[in-house]
Amino acid sequence: LGRTFTLPTGAKIPAVGFGTFANEGSKGESYKACLAALKAGYRHLDCAWYYQNEEEIGDAIHDFLEGSNGAVKREDIFVVTKVWNHLHEPEEVKWSLEDSLKKLRLDYVDLFLVHWPVAAERTDEYMPKIGADGKYVIKHDLTNNPEPTWRAMEELYAAGKAKAIGVSNWTIPGLDQLLGFAKVKPHANQVEIHPFFPNEELLQYCKEKDILLIAYSPLGSQNQVPSTGEKVSENKTLNAAAEKTGHTLAQTLISWGVKRGYCVLPKSVNPTRIISNFQDYDMTEEDFQAINAVAKGRHTRFVNMKDTFGYNVWADEKDE
Ligand code: A2P
Repeated sequence: LGRTFTLPTGAKIPAVGFGTFANEGSKGESYKACLAALKAGYRHLDCAWYYQNEEEIGDAIHDFLEGSNGAVKREDIFVVTKVWNHLHEPEEVKWSLEDSLKKLRLDYVDLFLVHWPVAAERTDEYMPKIGADGKYVIKHDLTNNPEPTWRAMEELYAAGKAKAIGVSNWTIPGLDQLLGFAKVKPHANQVEIHPFFPNEELLQYCKEKDILLIAYSPLGSQNQVPSTGEKVSENKTLNAAAEKTGHTLAQTLISWGVKRGYCVLPKSVNPTRIISNFQDYDMTEEDFQAINAVAKGRHTRFVNMKDTFGYNVWADEKDE
């Protein structure tokens, strides 16, 4: 609780953040969930232009700050947002952040990320262009060389609209390429991490390069059944390890991630789980190793957008 990591910029980022994705229920659900999270003590909100709920998040932040009567200020909350694939042209990157800021009712974000390492065509309505195959129309030049996109990110950083900049869903080859031309190197990389996809190699790489990792789906996307048939939440060893500590499995997986050295983004729309997920704890070395033993050698991603994009970001990997 209250733990933070330090970004390469020197800014503090709360270790446990609140994921705002997939609040697909009725309108207003994101507002309620975000307000509940802020009331529970979360001070790190993970948003994205693509989630189409930034107005609700903005209202929740606004109402929470107002309700605190000055006890909590804007600068006490670490707000992240991301630019979607069809807005990778430099002017569109800037438009995307402006649009997010307007919706979030903010004048800067604490971290701005390129959501995916793939660029797609837009339409006049700022939606991805969909091809005859039902998938995104990919911009191969900008995908293969994201330098123009990154230059726009650097300009937003220089302008103070984004206090830090980074990427999401990047793998080591993409980061190598980015570090090759970056004037401002990426401060963070947000990726899927949980015991079935520990992402150990990327974790070591990012530590070496001083890029902060942020983990999404830390609970292993509990609403999805992986191709292997086993859910993280149903793994016997993990459940036994959690039970031994007296904490829930979610609290244990969140604490495991923080102990490995990265931010963790649990997401929930359920007020009880929102509160309990924020109760992470200092895990003993023995309990930590018990989770590591389950994670070792696993490589099961639950999130893969290749059917939507028509482009496999991880084509060079041996995925499930
Ligand atoms: P809910 O919103 O009903 O709580 P991930 O971030 O790994 O993709 O997982 C998110 C999913 O996990 C959501 O469906 C969420 O459902 C569920 N979830 C969040 N917190 C918990 C928890 N403490 N115990 C069980 N399920 C949880």
